[in-house]
Amino acid sequence: MKLFSEILFGGDYNPDQWLDRPDILRRDVELMREANINTVTLGVFSWAALEPSEGTFTFSWLEDVIGNLYDNGIRTILATPSGARPRWLAAKYPEVLRVNADRTRNLFGERHNHCCTSPAYREKVHAIDVRLAEAFADNPAVILWHISNELGGECHCDLCQDAFRKWLKERYETIDEINHAWWTAFWSHQYTSFEQIESPSPSGDMGVHGLNLAWKRFNTDQTADFLKHEIAALREGGAEQPTTTNFMADYTGLDYSVLAREIDYVSWDSYPFWHCADDYQTAVEAEMQHDFMRCLKNKPFLMMESSPSSVNWHEVSRLKRPGIVMNACLQAVAHGADSAQFFQIRQGRGNSEKFHGAVIDHYGGEDTRVFREVSMTGAVLKGLSEVTRAEVKAPAAVVISMESRWAMEDAQGPRNAGLGYMAHVLKVYRALRECGINVDVLDASHSFESYRILAVPMLYMFRKDTATRLQAYTEAGGTLVMTCWSGVVNEDDLCWLGGTPHDLTDVLGLRFEEIDALPDGAHNHFFPADGAPSGLDRAYFCGRLCELVALSTAKPLMVYGDDFYSGYPAVTVNSYGKGNAWYVAADAEQKLFSDLMRHISRRLGIQPILEGAQKDVLLSLRSAKDAEYIFAQNFSSDQRRIVLPESAEVLHGQTNGVMPPYSSVVLRTEKA
Ligand code: GAL
Repeated sequence: MKLFSEILFGGDYNPDQWLDRPDILRRDVELMREANINTVTLGVFSWAALEPSEGTFTFSWLEDVIGNLYDNGIRTILATPSGARPRWLAAKYPEVLRVNADRTRNLFGERHNHCCTSPAYREKVHAIDVRLAEAFADNPAVILWHISNELGGECHCDLCQDAFRKWLKERYETIDEINHAWWTAFWSHQYTSFEQIESPSPSGDMGVHGLNLAWKRFNTDQTADFLKHEIAALREGGAEQPTTTNFMADYTGLDYSVLAREIDYVSWDSYPFWHCADDYQTAVEAEMQHDFMRCLKNKPFLMMESSPSSVNWHEVSRLKRPGIVMNACLQAVAHGADSAQFFQIRQGRGNSEKFHGAVIDHYGGEDTRVFREVSMTGAVLKGLSEVTRAEVKAPAAVVISMESRWAMEDAQGPRNAGLGYMAHVLKVYRALRECGINVDVLDASHSFESYRILAVPMLYMFRKDTATRLQAYTEAGGTLVMTCWSGVVNEDDLCWLGGTPHDLTDVLGLRFEEIDALPDGAHNHFFPADGAPSGLDRAYFCGRLCELVALSTAKPLMVYGDDFYSGYPAVTVNSYGKGNAWYVAADAEQKLFSDLMRHISRRLGIQPILEGAQKDVLLSLRSAKDAEYIFAQNFSSDQRRIVLPESAEVLHGQTNGVMPPYSSVVLRTEKA
């Protein structure tokens, strides 16, 4: 399971922007050594430097850089350059440029602006990838291939339309199937041939939900196919090193659970909005992304990018306060990353990223605050290499689903002003984390059996087997916590008939009747019902979505307090088989979810990772055969306290239980 035997520490390095400055390239290596950097990512956008004209390959500068770094103890993650193409390519093969949904073709420009169906693009990418593989397959410095960069976007050209129709034929076989699945009798939209099908467009169809969903799925599959195409080229060129591609936080253009199947390791780029609102909440959001990325392959993953100071693309580019660089890197490791990397090692002189944070800035020296913090972080991570032996295991999981989100957010009603899906999921996730336990964040296709608690917030789409799997989980003794607007549609976005949450009404002991949407800022309330458990015996507010449910066997624990549905059930529990199914009927405030999860985890006897930590200290655990590694993290600008177990060895941080602002403690305890 182990990625590498030490934590990879470094980041994106762009020597191709500095080829006329050998003095700078030399100095960079000295500075990287000083900063404890052991790995860089090279070549992400270097196509023009690697193939300045068609068929002319100039790899010698890259070989020199890689060799020189390796001689200095620094290894390379080598990128394929397909994230941005050279001008000659677009000029000669205009089909490589993307066509927008309104059917206009882009000019050459920016990056990530290519059609991944285009045979010309695929051929040119194949050619350079094979050659890169031939050149670097046996190079001991190259430890991992980084395919392209932040894959995303979509193309609506004729080639993509044809590929889409082919994809639809394979999936649906007949046009009648499509007409049924997409409910095209609505507004006389029946198709009579596959040739009539066009991707969604603002000047055509945007309101056929099945079409929209199919297009998003096709786009994911086509991107995954492009990824496969690149990996095949590397293998053809003889490269056997593992592969990755870097994902983005909360990116909704692709279903990462599909893309992750093609690569050996997941990596992602982490740019939280530190110091813009509540840092604790920002830290929780960041760790939810880490947990999601880890669970995509149930393996160590990489934090491929993060900023050592500020970014250039937030509305307001705040500096990371002292301590945050170290804390954010340790957070990635605590959640199962075996790497902590930055964008970028050296700040470029021109264009959009000239003011993006970098380990080495325009001043170019080691005597800067950022450089010092980076070096210190590198030293600490070096001392924590043994953590790479240990895995993250979680007693609880939160289920999320991109395809369900696509469908839910595409629907008209019940709340076009925003369903607040991710905010809702985050409340549930945070509530579980506040129990002081590790939490997995899973796609709905993942197996559920190993979890004591399975939270399923707003899972709008139930595929054919979703209900059966949740039912089996609960019956076997699991604790299911489901929330409103779940089990509403099937995988083509057709509403399930006969009562929802589909096929789960017995498990939950209730049935959905109606849903009320509240304007921004408006609230209803939850009040304890007779027999509400202690810990849930106060009032809470809720907003956005309030479901009215009819109970069969479920017991109401809380009821609504206002409006005509005052007294209707709002939180319920139903015992089913050997397990229990809880239901929260509305988008309640954080405190409700926190109190509910605390109640449930205590009832199940689930122990926190560390006893006696102050409330907003974030706790994570990595376990090896013989030892456990506890990470306690303070993301607040005030001091916090933890109680150190007597048996624990402090690997990093203060030994007296005091945690200064933005600091961490890493402990090792031996397993009995
Ligand atoms: C990432 C991208 C990098 C760089 C960085 C700046 O999304 O992969 O190339 O642009 O953002 O924050």
